[in-house]
Amino acid sequence: MPRLKLGILGSGKGSNFVAIADAIQAGALEAEIRLVVADNPEAGILGHARARGIPCRVLPASRYRTKLEPATELQLVEWLREAGAEWVILAGYMRVVKEPLLEAYRGRILNIHPSLLPAFRGLEAWRQALEAGVAVTGCTVHEVNAEVDGGRVLAQRQVPVCPGDTPQVLHARIQQAEHELFPEVLRQLAASGGTDAFQHPAPAPKT
Ligand code: GRF
Repeated sequence: MPRLKLGILGSGKGSNFVAIADAIQAGALEAEIRLVVADNPEAGILGHARARGIPCRVLPASRYRTKLEPATELQLVEWLREAGAEWVILAGYMRVVKEPLLEAYRGRILNIHPSLLPAFRGLEAWRQALEAGVAVTGCTVHEVNAEVDGGRVLAQRQVPVCPGDTPQVLHARIQQAEHELFPEVLRQLAASGGTDAFQHPAPAPKT
C-alpha cells in the first residue's frame, strides 16, 4: 500500500495532529508526516510535532489575520514541496487558503471542520450549532477550494447535542469524533490512492 506523504498545517493545540500521528505510530495508517507548519510560534501543534521528531516550520508574521500574504504562501508551498509532501492536511489551520497553495496542491488539500457541512460554516461552528438549537451536529472532512468550508465533503460523523451543553463541552465531544474521523479518512485515502472513491455518506442533518 503506498504511504501517504503528508504536510500538516495548524494554528492551535494540535489534537488532530496527535490523532493522525498516533494512528501512524500504531500502524493503523500507512502515512508519514513530512512536515508540520504553524502560522504562529506558540501553536501547541509544534510541541507535539517536535516531541515526535517531525520537522517543523513557522510561517513569518502576516499583515492579515485570516490569510497569508501571497509571497508567504508561496514560501509555504516551497517548504511543502521540498519536504516531499503530496497531501496537505489542515488540522486546525485558521487561515483561508489562497491561490498559490490551492494551485500547487489542487484536490490534495483536506480540512476538518467541526460541523456537518454545509451547516455552520466559519468560526466556532459548535457555538453556532448550540445557538441554532440543533439536536445533532458533528464534524466533516472535506476538500479545500477557494470557498471557505465549501469544498467537496468526503466524510462526516454525527455528534449529539446534549441538554446543558456549553460551547466548550460540545466542542470537546465533537473533537473526540474528529480524532476518529480524520485518521479514518486518511486510511481510506491511503487504501484507494485518491479521493475519487469517496462517496459523501451522510444525509444532510435535520435542523
Ligand atoms: C478543530 O475543532 C477543527 O475542527 C477546527 O479547528 C480545531 C482544531 O483543533 N478546524 P486541534 O488544533 O486539532 O486540537
